[in-house]
Amino acid sequence: MRNRSSGRLRFIGQWLKNPRQTASVTPSSPELAAAMLAELPAHTTRVIELGGGTGAITHALVDHGIAGKHLLVLELNAHLHAHLHTQFPGEGAVLGDAAELPRLAAEAGFLDAGPADAVISGLGLLAMNRRHVKRILEGAFACLRPDGRFIQFSYGPMSPVPDSVLQPLGLSMRRGEFVLRNVPPATVWVYQRSQSKAVIPRSVNR
Ligand SMILES: C[S@@+](CC[C@H](N)C(=O)[O-])C[C@H]1O[C@@H](n2cnc3c(N)ncnc32)[C@H](O)[C@@H]1O
Repeated sequence: MRNRSSGRLRFIGQWLKNPRQTASVTPSSPELAAAMLAELPAHTTRVIELGGGTGAITHALVDHGIAGKHLLVLELNAHLHAHLHTQFPGEGAVLGDAAELPRLAAEAGFLDAGPADAVISGLGLLAMNRRHVKRILEGAFACLRPDGRFIQFSYGPMSPVPDSVLQPLGLSMRRGEFVLRNVPPATVWVYQRSQSKAVIPRSVNR
């Protein structure tokens, strides 16, 4: 409980400094974290988290048994990254931009054991320009197994990844749970490769 309160304060402090990048005033609730994890493919063992923040979803992943070298967490904010690194010394917390994921994941050695089963993202995609969103999705699917999932939450009513990004990448989307018990309420979205289309460079997939 004390951890959650200090996480909230830390988050508000970073939001005041950079509201656009932080994208939320408070960390995700346990209910939202659970709704995100409910979308993990069956038998998931390896996950990449984008935008770890103060670790609200990271905690849920570790509790779910996805930890150590099977979990890679990216965070762009140096202050939040340092906090994640202290909270999760055994997990791979990396400071960097999600748009650079294939390079960062390779440098961290995460891809040595093969692609991830899922990418879980708390990034504020709605505040990013389309080119940045496309780079993030492209990079994420280059690190995912062929039927891997990109799981995202968003505070708006529409998919935070527009059709103009999904279609060229051959991705399909599905709306997951709407979580009222979060500030603000949020919807989970799941993106996957469409079965009929090949996607993305396969350089890092094995
Ligand atoms: C809405 S918060 C979510 C934090 C946490 N996952 C949660 O659910 O409470 C978004 C996080 O993404 C980070 N972020 C924003 N842009 C990023 C980027 N390009 N690459 C990596 N992290 C980024 C922010 O610093 C912030 O910690």
